[in-house]
Amino acid sequence: MGAYEQTYARSIDDPEGFWRDAAGLVDWIKPPKQILDDSRPPFYRWYPDATLNTCYNALDRHVVAGRADQPAIVHDSPVTGDVRTLTYAEMVEHVAAFAGALRRLGVEKGDRVLIYLPMVPEAAIAMLACARIGAVHAVVFGGFAPAELAVRIDDSRPKVIVSASCGVEPARVVEYKPMLDEAIELAESKPTACVILQRPQLEADLVEGRDLTYAAAMEIGRADPAGCVAVAATDPLYVLHTSGTTGKPKGIVRDNGGHAVALTWSMANIYDVGPGHVMWAASDVGWVVGHSYIVYAPLFAGATTIMYEGKPVGTPDAGAFWRVIAQHDVDVLFTAPTAFRAIKKVDPDALLLAEHDTSSLRTLFLAGERLDPDTYEWASRILGVPVVDNWWQTETGWPIVANPRGLEPLPLKPGSPSVRVPGYDVRILDDRGEEAPAATEGAICIKLPLPPGTLATLWGDDDRYVASYLSAYDGYYLSGDGGMIDEDGYVFVMGRTDDVINVAGHRLSTGSMEAVLAEHPAVAECAVVGVSDQLKGQEPRGYVVLKSGVEVDDEVLAAELVASVRSKIGAVAAFKRVTVVPALPKTRSGKILRRSMRDIVDTGSTKVPSTIEDPTVLDTLTPLLR
Ligand code: COA
Ligand code: AMP
Repeated sequence: MGAYEQTYARSIDDPEGFWRDAAGLVDWIKPPKQILDDSRPPFYRWYPDATLNTCYNALDRHVVAGRADQPAIVHDSPVTGDVRTLTYAEMVEHVAAFAGALRRLGVEKGDRVLIYLPMVPEAAIAMLACARIGAVHAVVFGGFAPAELAVRIDDSRPKVIVSASCGVEPARVVEYKPMLDEAIELAESKPTACVILQRPQLEADLVEGRDLTYAAAMEIGRADPAGCVAVAATDPLYVLHTSGTTGKPKGIVRDNGGHAVALTWSMANIYDVGPGHVMWAASDVGWVVGHSYIVYAPLFAGATTIMYEGKPVGTPDAGAFWRVIAQHDVDVLFTAPTAFRAIKKVDPDALLLAEHDTSSLRTLFLAGERLDPDTYEWASRILGVPVVDNWWQTETGWPIVANPRGLEPLPLKPGSPSVRVPGYDVRILDDRGEEAPAATEGAICIKLPLPPGTLATLWGDDDRYVASYLSAYDGYYLSGDGGMIDEDGYVFVMGRTDDVINVAGHRLSTGSMEAVLAEHPAVAECAVVGVSDQLKGQEPRGYVVLKSGVEVDDEVLAAELVASVRSKIGAVAAFKRVTVVPALPKTRSGKILRRSMRDIVDTGSTKVPSTIEDPTVLDTLTPLLR
């Protein structure tokens, strides 16, 4: 048996022994005696009697170990022209000061702090400052509009919000502060204070009595910096909202102890990144990839992490990624396939690659959406390094299926993110909950308990956690993805079986877009489906049925609906096309057959489902949908 097979078998046969050993990777204040609390299924908790501090594990311990002067974070921002390095010692100083400021603003252990920031080091500083004092951060991606931000404010009820005057997108400066003010206006729960990072590109107006600048907060905090407090391993570290099938996002709760153990384990065993290495996750702190592999995991491992405020193309050109790799000696790059598709579209022969020395790069990891064979082949060919797909979700926080490069590099199979990661007992189940034979498609499920680092529950909603993930098959977590496992144990992920879509690696809910379309007075019924897109993987398309007797110009209506989605959900929805149709295909129980509609757009036809109410609707729709 190879190292992978042996390790995987042990993690499943003796999970407590396996995770007891892995706990040695973390500095505990009170080390765990009990490893798993399984007294309240389907709720499981790891390291229930232990205490630690996440920020200590990410920063202070590396200073103690002699890495004070090593860069912890390099901020590289082609959109502002800044490159700024913060060493581990500087990070401890900044984070302790900001944590002190939060404390002076009344933030106590367990209180929430919402962070709505672009890709600046202050985002990581704010996250780690929360961890330092046991506060719970809720980071919201900057591309979301005020209404979406308001929903997240009301769900997490933050005492303090940390934001910025603006974000910088290639073609425009995005004013964050007016969006924040509007969101606070819309939300029922009001923060007691807002800390605003004033960026030189655009200064924001402050609300007297509520807002203070980041610089002012740091001045307060420097006078009274905060140390690391002990929190229970099971205490929440953060809430991260992600799209579900309904409009209401799910607040994924991550704990402190399991998260520190699992992420640290993943760095050595999956990503093969250790102390002194340079990891660049080209994503955003607002997404789970950013939480795990821009901020926490590289710092737990004592590596250097790159925070990149730019795009793969246009900042200034399709050689941007190669420039960053060369300039910062990046060992490992992690991004979404869509970024490589964007580069390939502009520079198909990768001519710009020759202008940069990218020899430091050892591995390219891709995740966030299906890795299509063309992109896999192109990236492998131009870079000449292993291109490693890995499959996971906001819920799990770290890979479920991957090629464990540190543990034992396994052969790569295009189309598959490789094998089950130790700790995850992945099974393919059929409709009756029976295990599907090898190479047969079904629902990808994970036998409980999930390993450390995965979601503990949904914020304030245990019932929804059980209903969403644990009730379809007793004793299993339902991933929401369909797929199969072949004879060699390689997992193939085919895509979501629900109404969640993936646009440019961003997870979005068609339900929330439908809710916006349905608000328009001319719209009787609507459906949003995710159709294939060459660049972004999927693209949302809206289909609306008009109320009877309503007379509108289709183009005017479409423009209004597109503008509505942009202003209510955000630019990130990338919602650009709406078609007026006479009817929507439905089952006899009234459920809209979105999958059939998607098939028609993608392939020109669909198998007529036996449950369809009126098959002629599909015939009429086929020419209109494409
Ligand atoms: N703040 C404000 N607006 C933002 C934003 C932010 N943080 N991020 C994106 N937006 C805006 C964009 O400006 C764009 O607006 P537009 O409609 O006015 O052009 C819109 O949201 C859509 O953004 P996006 O889907 O990112 O499209 P894009 O054309 O700007 O870039 C890619 C496309 C593929 C280059 C880009 O998505 C990318 O690099 N993705 C790969 C990395 C990644 O983000 N992965 C996430 C999970 S790993
Ligand atoms: P998110 O929670 O935003 O990380 O999105 C998770 C979803 O993205 C998964 O449920 C999958 O549908 C999709 N996804 C993520 N990584 C992969 C991958 N490597 N291959 C296929 N789909 C992926």
